[in-house]
Amino acid sequence: MNSEITLVDVSGAPAREQFVWPTVVLRKPAIEAQIERLASIDRPADGRRAAAVNHPMNTGPVPAYAPGIDVHIIVLKPGEKSAAVLRNSSCVDMCIGGSGVVTTAGKTFHVEKFDVWNTPSMQMQTVENNGNDLFVRLSYSNAPLLERLEVHYVNDKPQIAAQNDESREMAAQQRRARDASTPIPIGSDGAQMLGYEWLVDIDTIDSKALHWPWKDIAPHLENVYGMDLAYTGRHLYVLYNPATERRIGTSPSFFATIAKLPPGKVDKPHRHTSAAINYIMWGHGKSVVNGEKIEWAEGDLHFSAPGWSVHNHASREQGFMALTIQDHPLHIANESLLWQETLKSPILKLGTDLGVQTNLSAIAE
Ligand SMILES: [Fe+2]
Repeated sequence: MNSEITLVDVSGAPAREQFVWPTVVLRKPAIEAQIERLASIDRPADGRRAAAVNHPMNTGPVPAYAPGIDVHIIVLKPGEKSAAVLRNSSCVDMCIGGSGVVTTAGKTFHVEKFDVWNTPSMQMQTVENNGNDLFVRLSYSNAPLLERLEVHYVNDKPQIAAQNDESREMAAQQRRARDASTPIPIGSDGAQMLGYEWLVDIDTIDSKALHWPWKDIAPHLENVYGMDLAYTGRHLYVLYNPATERRIGTSPSFFATIAKLPPGKVDKPHRHTSAAINYIMWGHGKSVVNGEKIEWAEGDLHFSAPGWSVHNHASREQGFMALTIQDHPLHIANESLLWQETLKSPILKLGTDLGVQTNLSAIAE
């Protein structure tokens, strides 16, 4: 290791040009071949047969499909169960084949094709295939960002028990040390000085594993599928986890949306600093991303929106359905979510600027 600290002259230096990963599609046959390969190997010690989807431009330190998002294709054979792991990254999963049972924080739910669930940070989860077919899922996490920060905590022999609701309630009823630390106002604009206790005893939220069964999602998608083509918003629903509060996410880092576009819908070119990955659940369509035309169909995994790239998506004669994972809540927390709804619209900073207004009320009349 070179131990010498250097000082870099950046006086008058121009802003660094951002290196944009190009749009790419991992095709259905490649995903299917990988599933077959994973099913053929010896069972790994932790029971997790997994392949990480790696973008050709990724320079590490771990495989990733967008700079801050990894996607793992995970396979369990009938009767197999994965070992519990404790990680400070959080996940959003979608089952794309077979069925199984997810157990996390004392809660168990059965999942089948197109069900979505989230796994909070530092919550142990086991997944079991109790069916007769391969249980296949796509698992998205924010691990690449934590790995880049060199703070990805992974404990594959977890001993600690998660704090249960009872102990959380007891703690809430106790007088907190921070109550003895009186805020000191500075000036008249809201600036304050706070004692140490405020740093180490922040207000908590109940971060739970939630499950969105496909059978409950699917009927509602007909609402957006049936919407007028003149609608200026997107034909989708976000799978909302209340723990993400105003950041409208599915996990603290990502939102998951399920879109069902009617035939012949063409979105206006737009851009956002959040990166997006689309899994095409049904139908087919095409996109233009940074001027590059790309087509995709059912079963493909499309890196569909590199952050701040101008892009739009279009359905064809059938329409399409897609799961989109986007690192939108992460950017809201960072106050870095820039959004330009059309290339003629102003660049908004969502979360502090008044957001985009669609024509929903006019369409609904
Ligand atoms: Fe977009």
